[in-house]
Amino acid sequence: MSSLPPPELLTPRLLLRLVQEADLTDLLAVHADEEVNRYLPYVTWRGMADAQAWYAKVLQRRREGSAMQFVLQQQAGGRVIGGCLLFRFEPESGLAELGYALGRRDWGEGYMQEALSALLDYAFGAMQLRRIEAEVDPRNRASGQLLLGLGFQCEGLLRQRRVMKGEIKDAQMYGLLRDEWLARRAGSR
Ligand SMILES: CC(C)(COP(=O)(O)OP(=O)(O)OC[C@H]1O[C@@H](n2cnc3c(N)ncnc32)[C@H](O)[C@@H]1OP(=O)(O)O)[C@@H](O)C(=O)NCCC(=O)NCCS
Repeated sequence: MSSLPPPELLTPRLLLRLVQEADLTDLLAVHADEEVNRYLPYVTWRGMADAQAWYAKVLQRRREGSAMQFVLQQQAGGRVIGGCLLFRFEPESGLAELGYALGRRDWGEGYMQEALSALLDYAFGAMQLRRIEAEVDPRNRASGQLLLGLGFQCEGLLRQRRVMKGEIKDAQMYGLLRDEWLARRAGSR
């Protein structure tokens, strides 16, 4: 993974690239919103200090080779509207987990579907991953729909999987295999 050059993925409306410090102002606007963080493991950001603390962790995980945090930057205007990441890499298994979040003002416009299609092409292509999984709060309908629309299968419900922000939460597990993604891409041509 570390041998690959830093990826820049173009979609019809977006550029996906690794997060930089200069993106934190836009990302603060995304994560200062309780609604965006509702099903995410983070507390709502209260200011730039929270953004900087998050960024320090991102850089540490990038250095360790355990995660890649991307931003979604609009090609028109250059605004960063959210992020997506691959994390918990298990290279020997060709496995990674997927996460994502978009600022509320941009929900429902197909942006994340567009971004994740490009990220999955990269993950199953250049990175040669074999399986990508995602863990979703069953109440998060938008996230579940997004994954099903990308061809993920819902593989089961892990009851009371985590305690997050003081709440016991079930986790719906979704998975997508490289062969399934490639067949889907071949079918859409
Ligand atoms: C989940 C999230 C990223 C979706 O992003 P988005 O750009 O609004 O999603 P898209 O517009 O690409 O829509 C993808 C699919 O989800 C569906 N969808 C979007 N919002 C929905 C909602 N609130 N309820 C039901 N379905 C929804 C869309 O109709 C579309 O389905 P289709 O392909 O069958 O038409 C966004 O809601 C978000 O950032 N939520 C907060 C962070 C979060 O919960 N992240 C996931 C943690 S697991």
